[in-house]
Parts: sequence; structure tokens; C-alpha cells
Amino acid sequence: MSKPLATMYVKGAIPEDIERKSILNISTRNVTTQTHGFHKYPAKFIPDIPRWAIEKYLNGEKEQTILDPFCGSGTTLVEGVLAGHNVIGVDVDPLSLWISKVKTTRLDMDRLIDISDWLIKGIRSGKKGRFMPECETIRCWFSPDAIVKLSIIRSLINEIPDKFGKNRKTKDIQDFLMICFSSIIRRVSNADNESQKTYVSHTKIKKPEEVNNLFLSRLEMFTRKISDFSELVNSKLRRKYVRSSSTTSLKKFLEGEKIDLAITSPPYIKAIDYIYNQMVELFWVGDWFDMQTQKKQNSQKEKYIGDKNMGKSKFVDYRPHENSLHINKLDENLQQVFDTDQKNGHRHSYVAFKYFSDMEKHFCQIKRHMQKGSHYVMVIGDSSVSGVYFETADFLMQIAQRNGFTNVNQWGYKIKNRYMRFDRKGRGGIIKIDRVLDFEKK
Ligand SMILES: C[S@@+](CC[C@H](N)C(=O)[O-])C[C@H]1O[C@@H](n2cnc3c(N)ncnc32)[C@H](O)[C@@H]1O
Repeated sequence: MSKPLATMYVKGAIPEDIERKSILNISTRNVTTQTHGFHKYPAKFIPDIPRWAIEKYLNGEKEQTILDPFCGSGTTLVEGVLAGHNVIGVDVDPLSLWISKVKTTRLDMDRLIDISDWLIKGIRSGKKGRFMPECETIRCWFSPDAIVKLSIIRSLINEIPDKFGKNRKTKDIQDFLMICFSSIIRRVSNADNESQKTYVSHTKIKKPEEVNNLFLSRLEMFTRKISDFSELVNSKLRRKYVRSSSTTSLKKFLEGEKIDLAITSPPYIKAIDYIYNQMVELFWVGDWFDMQTQKKQNSQKEKYIGDKNMGKSKFVDYRPHENSLHINKLDENLQQVFDTDQKNGHRHSYVAFKYFSDMEKHFCQIKRHMQKGSHYVMVIGDSSVSGVYFETADFLMQIAQRNGFTNVNQWGYKIKNRYMRFDRKGRGGIIKIDRVLDFEKK
């Protein structure tokens, strides 16, 4: 986007037709409406984007199928079911899929109230919990009081199927309570609340919140919101949550599906370590998907697009000039990173190379499952890698075009909401404007 047009201020809904390359200044206050605010998640996008795409392309029709291949915490999926559509979310991250499931699943409210009453009594009874995280450093992350109280809540949640039956409705409620529990963990820990990374700051001293008060107030909010959501949403809609990479074959998960619209925000290059971001939560809930220890967490990192934690052996033989991605400017950028950053250039050049190669595999996969003429709306930001500016959105546009998609529009937006702020202090790239790429399947 070399010469952007003048900024357009948007206060309500995003207008259906947007002039190519314009920049919208979106003043959004609705990032926590409905179930959107259930759980923090790095680099969530604003619900306004999927809402806009759904209104524009599904044109008031109902029960179409919407796919988000990098669904994260399920923003697209929530908007999809609220608008009356079937949804499929794919992600490599198990916690993200679990959050997505809870945010889009209607509950039996009478049963929820019974189970919550029992849970609250158990919390107040002062009975000791049996659950303990498998983490030697747990006392650095949490006070002794927080550990005791978290352990009680987590142990009670474990008991739910034995007390209330092993059936789907009870399981949905157990999942809901686990995500409510997970949503308080960072705030009751010693780790900084705002940072993308999980660390204890010794300069910015934090006073963690008290576990029981926070859990009970979150439970009250979760219950109110899921009750409204359960009333609004059509019980017949299909929802599917797939733990898979969107770069490998999705055939076994998407076979027979007719995708009418895809909406997503893929990872940025080298920007977020999703697992590191969720570390304290994973100590307390990760056993449900075998990611409760740091060792197990680290072993999953290389599955994430844009990850920079790979061992040296992965890139030792990589040379940019021997690995063209057939986009001149991109090849030049990769070479420049390699040549100019003496300390990390080799790794960073490979990380960026792998990012674009993975995204190429992604487009190649996804085109097989999309209808001719259907749209794929993607939000992405440019990045800087070792001080070299990568026009990520332009490169992805070229990659998508050679993999069966036509770019029919592109525009950008700035976000005014502090809650969505993405401050990375210049490390791993600066994202000032998110770009919306609108593709049509050829
Ligand atoms: C920017 S976030 C999506 C945020 C989402 N739009 C939301 O509002 O919560 C990108 C997501 O891509 C996921 N991801 C990374 N590599 C992936 C891969 N190879 N296949 C599928 N998902 C992947 C990450 O786990 C993360 O959840």
C-alpha cells in the first residue's frame, strides 16, 4: 500500500463498500460484548471485521458455513453463530480451541446453576484441593494463598463428571467452568498482566488479585453472558473445532464441507510466542491436553507459523539466495536480514522465509475446500525483522494470487481501543495498521 488514501473515521458499523487502499480509523467499544471478553488472547482481532465480512458476503442468508483457519480465541466463530451460521475453527493451539468452544456453545442454564451452586459451596467449605501443577517454580509465579485457593477450585472442577454425570451437557459446563478458571490465572499470579510474555517484573511491582473474589465475580459475568448467548443462538447450528496446522492437509477434517466464507487473522512474523504467553494458565489447565509442563509446552512451539524458537540445526544449511520465494522484493528482504544482522540474521532470515513458505502451503490447502466465487478475508500487519521492513500483506497477496485467489479489495484500519493495543516496543516488528485483504476464490 504505497499511497494510502485519507483516513475515514468509523463510529458504528464498518460500511459495506470501502474504497481500495483506504484507511479506516475504527472507534470500537464492543470488544467484550457477548462472549468475546471471556478470555484474554494475544492479537485478537476486533469483532467488527468478521461482522463486516459476514454481512457483506452472506447477505442475510442463514446457515452458511464460515471457516477460520487460524481461529485463536474464536472471534470469527462467535460472530458467525450470532449471525446464524455454521462455523469451523482450526488452530494448532489447544487452549485457543477450548476458549473458542466455550464462547460458542449454548448451555443448559438450569444445570449450570446447580453445578455452580455446588462449586461455590465447595470453594467456601475450605476443603483442601488435591490438584497441584507439575511445576517446580510454581511458588515464584503464585503466592501460597493463591496456590491453595486455585487448587481447591481446580480439584472441584475435576469432580464434576462424577458428581453430575458423564454426558455432553455436563461436559460443556465443565469446559465452561475451566475456561472461567483459566481466565483468572494471569491476574492472580505474580506475572505482569499486560505483557505478551509471561514474566514477573521486578520494576513494576504487581499486587495480584484475590482468587476467590475474582473467580466468583468472573463466574457471575460468564453466567450472565452465556445465558444471553444461549437464548440468542439457534440450537441447530453446527460448530467444529479442529486441532491441526492449517499448512498441512485439512482433507480429513474438511472433507464434505462446503465453505461459504473464510475469515481469519494469521500470526505475524516472529511476533508472538503463543505458548509462552499462556504459560501460567497452562500450569493449571494444560494437563487436559498434555501441555502442563514447560518441557511439554516447548516441544509444541515449532508447530506455530512465525515461531522463532527452532533449534539451530533447522536453519544451519539455509541460505536466502539458494531458496527463492519468487517474489523479488521478498527475496531481497530475506537476503538483507541475512547480511546485515550479524547476531541473529541467519535465524531471522530463515524464520521469515519459513513464514512465507508456510503461508504458501496454507493457501494451497485452503483453496481446495473453498467454493468458487467465495471470499477469504484476511487481516494481517506488516512487520520489521532485524530492522528490515517486510510488506507482509503485499507478499501474501502475491502468494494468494498464485494459489487460486484473486485480490478484489484491500484496505487498512487503525484501532483506537486500548484493550486491543499491540505494543511490542519495536522488537519483532511494528504493527501500526492492520491490513484487510479480500480474496475471491477463482
Ligand atoms: C492472530 S492469532 C488469531 C486471533 C483470532 N483472530 C482472535 O480474534 O482470537 C493467530 C492464531 O494462529 C494460530 N496458529 C499458528 N500457527 C498455526 C498453524 N500452523 N495452523 C493453524 N493455526 C496456527 C495461533 O495459535 C493463533 O491462535
